[in-house]
Amino acid sequence: MASRILVPWALPESGREVLKKSKLRVTYLHGPAGELPTLAELIEAVKEADVVLPRGTQPVPREVLVANPALRGVANHGVGYDSVDVVSATELGIPVTNTPDILTETTADLAWALLMATARKIPQTHNFIISGRFTGPVGHPFMGMDIGPGGSNRPKVLGIIGFGRIGRAVMRRSKGFRMKVIAYDPPLREIIEKTRGVEYRELQELLKESDFVTLHCPLTKETRHLIGRNELELMKPTAILINASRGPVVDETALVSVLKERKIFGAGLDVYEKEPQLAPGLAELENVVLLPHIGSLTQDTRNQMAIVAAKNAVAMVKKRKPRNLVNPEVLNRREYLQKVSD
Ligand code: DGY
Repeated sequence: MASRILVPWALPESGREVLKKSKLRVTYLHGPAGELPTLAELIEAVKEADVVLPRGTQPVPREVLVANPALRGVANHGVGYDSVDVVSATELGIPVTNTPDILTETTADLAWALLMATARKIPQTHNFIISGRFTGPVGHPFMGMDIGPGGSNRPKVLGIIGFGRIGRAVMRRSKGFRMKVIAYDPPLREIIEKTRGVEYRELQELLKESDFVTLHCPLTKETRHLIGRNELELMKPTAILINASRGPVVDETALVSVLKERKIFGAGLDVYEKEPQLAPGLAELENVVLLPHIGSLTQDTRNQMAIVAAKNAVAMVKKRKPRNLVNPEVLNRREYLQKVSD
């Protein structure tokens, strides 16, 4: 008998509970330590499923979607859904869902932690101590940058690129640091202009003016390599780049060169262009703080994300309209209507 929901990764227990209660048939496909299946294994397994529930960033390309003409949904566990070929899904009448809202604050916390750690060189100094090198006063290599107004009492400028839920949550965190906030996000320009304490800037102006540039835009064809060599060169030599959105928003090779040449002070990254691979030279730099894509990785938030993704999956198996639909236009497609009327 066909399995109804395919979970090709180690979904947290909270999500498994939801699936168990639904009494639907569920297939888990992953290695003993949670290793993800290969693309070929995923293609094979999806043929037996009605809905697939991938881990956020686990690729669901067209080959997977076309492998099963009866596929009725992709319930992505994550707010970003650039890993799913949504254009093909819509064309094939397959709804795609994500897990927004519940990870907003957690991801903003992480971006803020990264900003502080990069500005004050926290991991570098930690490594210095645990390697037994703290034998006297420390100075220059660990000289940091102010986040608050500092000795000169000059408020620092925070430039937010992408003013959606997470960008706005980062803005709220800046309040305690008396920062000046500027933001760039053409589709949300009106929201930025109506938000008290934030000024709109075009991209180039934002890059020139900011002490911290933090990226919170989704990965789309417009935002791929939004920050390349030319953009990085507009930044101040004292400025810091933070990326907790998606790796390909930044040209990572260009970033490595700019950091090597000390054209900016530093970068804090949670995401990478060819994740989990890093651009050559990135890991050897001393002016970076690198995290392994842990933006939403807290117990509470991951449990909630698993519950939401599982509920979305169950709704789609049951041919109900799921919450968190990212391609609502699919509902009018003949291919979708056929699938739900069978
Ligand atoms: C998200 O939810 O998009 C996170 O980056 C995890 O994939």
